[in-house]
Amino acid sequence: MQKILITGGTGFIGSHTVVELVSAGYECIILDSLVNSHAAVVGRIATLSGKTPLLIEGDVRDAACLDALFAAHTFSAVIHFAGLKAVGESVREPLRYYDNNVNGTTTLLAAMAKAGVKTIVFSSSATVYGEPDFSPIPESAPFRPASPYGKSKAMVESILTDLVASDSAWRVALLRYFNPVGAHSSGMMGEDPAGIPNNLMPFVCQVASGRLKTLRIFGNDYPTADGTGERDYIHVMDLAEGHLAALRYLARTDASPLMIANLGTSRGHSVLDVVNTFSRINGMPIPHQFVARRPGDVPAYWADATYAERTLGWKATRSLEDMCRDSWNWQKQNPTGDIG
Ligand code: NAD
Ligand code: WQD
Repeated sequence: MQKILITGGTGFIGSHTVVELVSAGYECIILDSLVNSHAAVVGRIATLSGKTPLLIEGDVRDAACLDALFAAHTFSAVIHFAGLKAVGESVREPLRYYDNNVNGTTTLLAAMAKAGVKTIVFSSSATVYGEPDFSPIPESAPFRPASPYGKSKAMVESILTDLVASDSAWRVALLRYFNPVGAHSSGMMGEDPAGIPNNLMPFVCQVASGRLKTLRIFGNDYPTADGTGERDYIHVMDLAEGHLAALRYLARTDASPLMIANLGTSRGHSVLDVVNTFSRINGMPIPHQFVARRPGDVPAYWADATYAERTLGWKATRSLEDMCRDSWNWQKQNPTGDIG
């Protein structure tokens, strides 16, 4: 059985990926500082997958912790989810973001190199493209990250690219996620943002549950079909399957050492599409009002995800209806969002 180290494995995307990997026969060991997640997620993973993954509470910037982990286990690969991800916070606290996301990754890579583990799947983001010239965005589009968060992802991509160039024993997948939403269909795992959510779907869910009163829609004067911003929302379980596909790709002997893929659905949905679909599928009105554009927002973008389909044999299959239904199913079963 192949053993995979999952950094950030108790977080939103990590926890869903662990369920997918364990169900596919991998053994997963989670390293997470719990800075943005709860240890109780492990119990949910165990219920859903039938196996309890080992959780090591530790930080990817802790070289001694990593050395001990690599000495105790023989890993075939690492999936590196651990990172901070709030765009606005990264503008206020850039050093914290660069330290956590960039220094955290170089510390992890040094420990991997020392242990001879040279296969890694990295959580990158569509945010590296900033405001693109056009959509759908191909992987060859120029980088224009607008925040310290986005720049930290672009920096790590450069570091990993240089690493592969220096030593072809490394096998690296850079996966650029678009807008992950949704939850496990059981409603036992989902996104659990601290405080008032910044992102659309968690905000919509909290309006539906009555925790928040009204959704503010940032801008209805964009050059889009209904005037509201368009994004490529992707179901978190499709993303989880994408990681499984990437691991299998890297394990294939003929795989090239560096693969870079957009993980999205290749289509855009507006804020009003999300609100109206959520209301229709769940039978819940979402009171909303239009307010000014949010500074820094891009009018519209979506992925060209055809490379992932060609290379990984992976394609997102879940619809916006599925995303809205599963997000609400999670929220209503966990009304305070906090499963800890
Ligand atoms: P999340 O915050 O739910 O999960 C990240 C996990 O990493 C958390 O459990 C957190 O406790 C842990 N962590 C953070 N810093 C750590 C450190 N130094 N050492 C150990 N653990 C640490 O976020 P998520 O949505 O699951 O995102 C996972 C990854 O995907 C992140 O790298 C994020 O930047 C990237 N990503 C997320 C999105 C998104 O919108 N959710 C989009 C694109 C890329
Ligand atoms: C989506 C749309 C908003 C909240 C962010 C990060 C990106 C990536 C994914 C990590 C936009 C509108 C939102 C609200 C609204 N994360 N909106 N009212 O900004 O596309 O992407 O998450 O890598 O880096 O920037 O996602 O969910 O915040 O916004 O009208 O209360 O919803 O204006 O059009 P975004 P989002």
